[in-house]
Amino acid sequence: MRKLAALLLALLLLSGLSGCAVRQEAEEKPALVVGFSQLGAESSWRIANTASVEAAARDFGYGLMMENANQKQEKQIDAIRSFIAYRVDVIVFSPIVETGWENVLTEARQAGIPVILVDRMIDAAQDDLYTAYVGADFYAEGRRAGEYLIRKADAEGLAHLRIAEICGTPDSTPMRDRQRGFADALAGDPRFEIIESVNGDFLRSKGEECMASLLDKYGPDGIDVVYSHNDSMTLGVLDVLEREGIAPARDILLITVDGEKEAVNALKAGRINCVVQCTPDLGGDVMRLVQALKNGQEVPRVTHPKESAFSDLDDLTDPSVEGF
Ligand code: AHR
Repeated sequence: MRKLAALLLALLLLSGLSGCAVRQEAEEKPALVVGFSQLGAESSWRIANTASVEAAARDFGYGLMMENANQKQEKQIDAIRSFIAYRVDVIVFSPIVETGWENVLTEARQAGIPVILVDRMIDAAQDDLYTAYVGADFYAEGRRAGEYLIRKADAEGLAHLRIAEICGTPDSTPMRDRQRGFADALAGDPRFEIIESVNGDFLRSKGEECMASLLDKYGPDGIDVVYSHNDSMTLGVLDVLEREGIAPARDILLITVDGEKEAVNALKAGRINCVVQCTPDLGGDVMRLVQALKNGQEVPRVTHPKESAFSDLDDLTDPSVEGF
């Protein structure tokens, strides 16, 4: 009854919530209702991730109340508060940044609503405020990017590589951990110098801006490698390089993270050197945890999907080399 009441209340109040959608007909009486706060729609990755959660909720027959925060933490906090008010059964959310969640997650805990973090983490100090995390091991992704560069330098006898890093949203888990993993992989090897790390916010437009200003500052001969924290920014980088007559993946090596189709195709076409995989397809794992919670079962604290990396040092005709 609690679930049906929550859903009916949600439908009644729906008009007051911009962008909120309940993806289940009330008369179908979903087994339970999940409140999902998505952080935005900044990249193809994010759009695929939203679709994955929506499809999984449908497959499991759960009602889904989805709010998209358009990159604003305040909107995510508002969404979570509205889910608490509706008394949803489980809250799923992808925190845009790691800090600033203590109050609202304490409110969820006081209301007895379990919280599953998807894709991104919150500050370790607030460890007791969520039940489980489903998402990538971003540190391992950063390491894979660095390990590729070591293999490339070994294979081609490259003695000194000046690296420009284009980072994702500051204070977000993928930004922090992809940066740390990459730096750790290269640490102590004098061949590698990270000359600058700039913020591209995971956006294609900002990737383009960052590349243009890096070229202004260092010139095409002053940068050997661009390590970009996601494909959207990398596609912006490609636009700039090709406009300027600089051969991507040859004049400047390009390492990217995500693995969307456009980036994997660019890798196969010799325009990117390495794509580190980050799967957006997390919905199934999330809904399996929701189901386990519903059945009163223990759930794993952390679920990482299986991921790898593709590069110009591998066989790119292998059928496993494909984008999402
Ligand atoms: O949190 C995952 C990252 O966020 C993806 O790499 C990026 O594309 C997205 O915007």
